[in-house]
Amino acid sequence: MNFDIADIALADKGHRRIEWASRRMPVLASIRERFEKEQTLAGYKIGACMHVTSETATLMLALVAGGAEVVLCASNPLSTQDDVAAALVDAGIPTYAVRGEDAETFYEHINAVLDTSPDLVFDDGADMTMVLHKERVGQEVLGGMEETTTGVMRLKAMEQDGVLRYPIVAVNDSDTKHLFDNRHGTGQSSLDGILRSTNILFAGKRVVVAGFGDCGWGIATRAKGLGADVIVTEIDPIRAVAAVMEGHRVMTGIEAAEVGEVFITATGNIHVFRAEHFEKMPDGAIIANAGHFDVELDLVALDEMAVSRRVLRDNLEEFTLPDGRRILVIAEGRLVNLGAAEGHPADVMDMSFADQALAAEWIIENKDTLGPKVYTLPKELDDEVARLKLEAMSGSLEQLTPAQEHYLSSWEHGT
Ligand code: NAD
Ligand code: ADE
Repeated sequence: MNFDIADIALADKGHRRIEWASRRMPVLASIRERFEKEQTLAGYKIGACMHVTSETATLMLALVAGGAEVVLCASNPLSTQDDVAAALVDAGIPTYAVRGEDAETFYEHINAVLDTSPDLVFDDGADMTMVLHKERVGQEVLGGMEETTTGVMRLKAMEQDGVLRYPIVAVNDSDTKHLFDNRHGTGQSSLDGILRSTNILFAGKRVVVAGFGDCGWGIATRAKGLGADVIVTEIDPIRAVAAVMEGHRVMTGIEAAEVGEVFITATGNIHVFRAEHFEKMPDGAIIANAGHFDVELDLVALDEMAVSRRVLRDNLEEFTLPDGRRILVIAEGRLVNLGAAEGHPADVMDMSFADQALAAEWIIENKDTLGPKVYTLPKELDDEVARLKLEAMSGSLEQLTPAQEHYLSSWEHGT
């Protein structure tokens, strides 16, 4: 078996970590049980480009239990949990992922997975999909799944330009994904990353959150819950008003740069904080990114402005500017929650990865009718995942009475 990981000796620790995550993923466990019985994925090869975490490992093992052959590589150079990668290799899943790998190795790993000719591609950020569309244009793929907002945006642009070659399910667009993973997962785990790398007190800090989408909502809400004075920057007037009504101040990036102490980007956009902002930030400003790519903070500009830089703590680098001000960058501007912490907790990845597993089954079941488009999973599947999660969380759902059902679908009733 071919693979490229940091150290196979870490496998035992990785297995224990995967066991802990899988105990908190009951919805995925129930899908795994059914897949195992029905051998839903037998005969299919899966190539996955995802964050190599204990939660992803639980998904990969569920796909294998369903009969699939699985090969995995990292979707980010800094998010791999090396012990988990070792455990996956030990479990017989070829894995190509080393925490801290350079860009060349990152793409070698993607190509190693694609060399196995997968039928289905699980992607997070669309980097594997891009290689398939730019460099491997002749390679046949049955269908794909995309995990994150930025990846889905890239795919929709490809669909619009008529260049998409096979059907892809936008898993991010399922309500059971983005309303929970992006909000609660990113909210909690991004603060976790900032805390682990800095150990600052949030209470009383002026925290600037750039972008008030699902991720920004989660980060701002959790920061406020810890006592921070939250400032939001937005380009969308509706989301800006939503932030004001949640009790946050809304400013331009430049205004925020002058007053903020901690800055977190979650926009999916490029150079949200750049030279003109770094010029205004106070001494000791901490900057971090929760968006998919490491482009939200213009660190090339910061490096050019700096007279020196040094690593101060794990995942925390200090840049000193000519006037003596210091700006601290967490996890190289990469996803702060995965670079400086462990990513979203398993409890929330349970629904995201249940959606991923069901998307693979849905593509197989509908392969003869799907075209090269971006699809959203049918609402029944989204509802089913939510129902199973609610049950696992000991909640119960109210049922409509026949009179209520009639009332909701009729137009005769009025004042
Ligand atoms: P979203 O589209 O819901 O929200 C993004 C928000 O940013 C929008 O409201 C948009 O108006 C705003 N925005 C865009 N450019 C801006 C700018 N220059 N300044 C201020 N605001 C700006 O997206 P989302 O689901 O919240 O995802 C945001 C990013 O986080 C994406 O890159 C996504 O892939 C990524 N993501 C990361 C994780 C993680 O684990 N860290 C999890 C989910 C999503
Ligand atoms: N994205 C965010 N958190 C994650 C996790 N724990 N595992 C895989 N992908 C993630």
